[in-house]
Amino acid sequence: MTMQKNLSLQLERQLPRGSLQLIRTAGALAAERRCGLYLVGGAVRDILLGRDNFDLDLVVEGDAPELSRALAQGISGRVLVHQRFGTAKVKHDHGSIDLTTARSETYSRPGALPTVSPGSITDDLRRRDFTINAMAMDLSPGRFGALVDPFSGEADLRRGLISVLHDRSFVDDATRMLRAVRYEQRFSFRLEESTEALLRRDLPMLATISGDRLRHELELILKEDRPEDVLERAQALGLLERVHPSLKADGWLRDRYRLARSASPPSLPLYLALLTYRLGADETEDIIARLRIPGRAAAVMRDACRLKADLPSLESPGLLPSVIHRLLRGRSPASVLAAAVAADSAAVRERLELYLNRLRYVKTSLNGEALQQMGLSPGPQLGEMLGALHEAKLDGRVKTREDEAAFLRARLTGNQ
Ligand code: CTP
Repeated sequence: MTMQKNLSLQLERQLPRGSLQLIRTAGALAAERRCGLYLVGGAVRDILLGRDNFDLDLVVEGDAPELSRALAQGISGRVLVHQRFGTAKVKHDHGSIDLTTARSETYSRPGALPTVSPGSITDDLRRRDFTINAMAMDLSPGRFGALVDPFSGEADLRRGLISVLHDRSFVDDATRMLRAVRYEQRFSFRLEESTEALLRRDLPMLATISGDRLRHELELILKEDRPEDVLERAQALGLLERVHPSLKADGWLRDRYRLARSASPPSLPLYLALLTYRLGADETEDIIARLRIPGRAAAVMRDACRLKADLPSLESPGLLPSVIHRLLRGRSPASVLAAAVAADSAAVRERLELYLNRLRYVKTSLNGEALQQMGLSPGPQLGEMLGALHEAKLDGRVKTREDEAAFLRARLTGNQ
């Protein structure tokens, strides 16, 4: 007989005190109700790997909303219940935890959302994506920390393997193919041999996935520490072209993503704009439509694409700051940043950075009101004067408020 592994020591070492207390209380409340309670999924995997993960998911072999209400009451926390899905979120001082009623799932057709019914913890683990994500930890007081591992997830963790639980896994949910490469690259694991064969077999199933779900998976990839590794691997497996045939992950993208990270963590729109930077406007539009990319990110992608065409005019020597400003104003800062990261020419990059770091913040001290006090009535002339003043400030021809006043007076007399 094999000894059941107990992880209570690791739990105590790795979880913040508040969270530990909370899951112990939840375990005791579940025991009073004679229902099983388990920590599941990513948190169990990460505890075994010694990695931090404060995103706690609990599975209840019973009524999760009822248990959640009792838990929230016990700790004076707040609870948010989705009765229809049998799920709840308990918010406490240190964060929140999710509780779900254990369920079994069947898929009516590929790509569809599953039909669910109540089940045991083993049923609940059986419906999951990979063995390393299909482990649970018992939270009942008598067995606190005992590992529940019906699909040998721990052995796969030790061997560094991403394995599906059954050979229709990718057919049931083709987003798992993208999840597989994401975990593989994050942990420096590899796809188990038959899992890789299934993935290659099921590549066409990606066409069954809605744009929203595909975009969500792409966003998760872009939130990884090194998304370029995931994208390159997805490309090598023929997966990236199934997301969209125009997407390409190569050395260029790798260098740009690294550069984008060198200053501060890149935003999602910046990563997306770099991913589509080399494409034409039509291809970019096609990707925006297929992945249903929302407004702000789509605008950055479009702006970056347009800006690319205008970059040669930023090459000329001796460009005045006001000229640089005129060329770049009104474009989303993330698209200018994308162009700066993507630019091959050092001069162009410098000018884009000058705009981003300084020029776009330059403001005049005097405004339209000051001009009216000087006797000018509102109208196009006033707008022109303000524009001229702003350009003078950008180019360093005026510096102080007094300079600005003198500049305006001179213009006014000149104009009279
Ligand atoms: N899951 C699944 N199939 C999916 C999505 C999720 O089986 N398509 C299961 C996995 O067991 C996973 C759990 O739901 O562990 C939680 O999903 P998620 O929060 O996306 O993943 P985590 O494991 O928490 O991983 P990450 O560290 O990337 O957040």
